[in-house]
Parts: sequence; C-alpha cells; structure tokens
Amino acid sequence: MIDSETKVLGIFGDPIGHTLSPIIQNAAIKELGLKMVYVPFHVTPGNLKDAVASIKALGMPGVNITIPHKERVMEFLDATTDEARKIGAVNTIVNRDGHLTGHNTDGAGYITSLKAETGFECSGKNIVILGAGGAARGIMAAILAEAPASVTLVNRTVDRADSLAEDLGSECAEVKIHTVPLEKGPLQPRIEAADLLINSTSVGMGGKVPFNPLVLSLDKLPSEAIVSDIVYKPLNTALLRSAKMTGHTVHKGLGMLIHQGALGFELWTGEKAPVETMRKAALKALDITE
Ligand code: ATR
Repeated sequence: MIDSETKVLGIFGDPIGHTLSPIIQNAAIKELGLKMVYVPFHVTPGNLKDAVASIKALGMPGVNITIPHKERVMEFLDATTDEARKIGAVNTIVNRDGHLTGHNTDGAGYITSLKAETGFECSGKNIVILGAGGAARGIMAAILAEAPASVTLVNRTVDRADSLAEDLGSECAEVKIHTVPLEKGPLQPRIEAADLLINSTSVGMGGKVPFNPLVLSLDKLPSEAIVSDIVYKPLNTALLRSAKMTGHTVHKGLGMLIHQGALGFELWTGEKAPVETMRKAALKALDITE
C-alpha cells in the first residue's frame, strides 16, 4: 500500500518509455517488502535542474539517470564519486540528508556480473574492448581498477578510442593501452593475445548487423578466452552465437543491466539486492528465457 511513509525512487530520462529499470527495481522492492516505489519520470533537458532539485524537496532516497542526461546532470549535484568523475557520467544519484552524490555503477555492474557469471578475474589479463562510447568508458574505468596487463580499445572512429585512452589511461601507467581501428590487419594480433573480448557497441542490437567476419573473426581467439556482449536484446547476439560455435565461454549482456541496478538499490536502501529476483523480472518483461 502506498501511504505517507512510502519513499519514491525513480529514473529521469528523455525518452523514458523503453527503460527496464522500474521492472527490476520494483521487483526488488516487493521481494524485500520495503515501503518504496520506483517511478519512471519523463524529464526533458530544460527541466533537468528542477527535477534534480525535487529529489531534495520530495525527500527521495535517490534516482537513476539515463539518456540524454548522464553527463550534464553532474553540474546540479553536490558531489560526484571519483569513478563517476573519471568516466564523466552519472547513472545513479544518492540523497543523504539533502546532499546529492552522483555515482556511476555501470562499470562496477559489468565487472560484478562478469565475475559472478564466468569467474573471470581481469588482473594480469589482456582485454580487448570493441567500442569507445559511453558504455566503453564505464567498462574501461572498472577494468583499469582491476590491474589488467593490457587493454586494447577497438573503434570504427579511432580518434574516439584515442581520447578514451588518454582520459582514463593516464593514471594507470602500469597497464599497456592500445588503440586500433576496427580493421582486420591491426585487430587480429590483439585478438590472438586476448583473454577477454567485450562488445560494448550497439552492434548486434535488435538481432541486426553482426560484425563482419572478414573484420572480426574468433577462429584465432585463444580457446580459454571469454566473449562478452553488453547487448541484451537479443540475449544471444550474433557475436555470442559465433563464440559458441568456436567453443568459447560467453558472457551475456543482461547481467550488466541487473548488477548496475543492484548496486544502485543497495546504495539507496542499505539492503542486499535480490539479484535473481531482478533477473527473473527482466527476463519476463523481455519475454525471453535464458
Ligand atoms: P553508448 O553510450 O551506448 O556507448 P555511444 O556513446 O553512441 O553509445 O557509442 C556507440 C559505440 O558503438 C561507438 O563506439 C560506435 O563507434 P563510433 O565511435 O565509430 O561511432 C559504435 N558503433 C555503433 N554502430 C556501429 C557500427 N555499425 N559499426 C561499428 N561500431 C559501431
């Protein structure tokens, strides 16, 4: 029952219709029997400042932030974590007694999901990341904190990979960082040395346009390497299907979504998130089985 004790959580975005966060967060709230509700709010860029002020005014424990506000919202907050500052984006705001702190749980959510679902440890490993956009930023920051041997950023627009390497890599002199264009020649040697290959691009979303096998082939990827895709619609992307055919272990995209949400839930409520309940709710909403 919703009454005067009920705390309101939510997500601010524009558009907001596509988000799965209310489904997974309300499933977690229900499972733990908390007096809370999580609501999607359609917040346009012109209303972002007032919407953030309303978190304090309404005594909300916090909110998630999604496109297109993840970068600009930082100017309206009282503080940001080091990780969010390095990434340059906030996906979770926590309200502690009227003090708003911006966090970024995307990268940590990715790493938690990777470890939980495959047991992979990044320390000392060679990691190849396809993409250099917002998602790659979060993942790269979290991976660098785990002290890998090397990270290769592969992007269609190589300048974007170079800026990401410069922004995040400068503080990690001990990690070798390579940037390469999405072309077979420069990419192949990196693939042959990889322990983990991550697709952080939108390629493969909606079941469309897999990577051209003439550019990206998994034939020479070491057999114990893991192939990971952050796309979760479909769950079995073309990239993961080819990885299964070459006998590689795969890591699916839904885990990152669930775990970034679980970390937010824990920050707002102080309770351990019921991750399996959240996963089941997401699978049901997507109308898919694992
Ligand atoms: P997000 O926040 O989801 O990461 P983004 O910042 O727009 O979104 O980044 C999208 C990433 O997917 C980029 O690395 C982009 O490559 P470019 O920087 O060259 O644009 C990559 N991407 C999108 N469509 C692609 C395609 N068809 N082929 C290769 N890379 C693609």
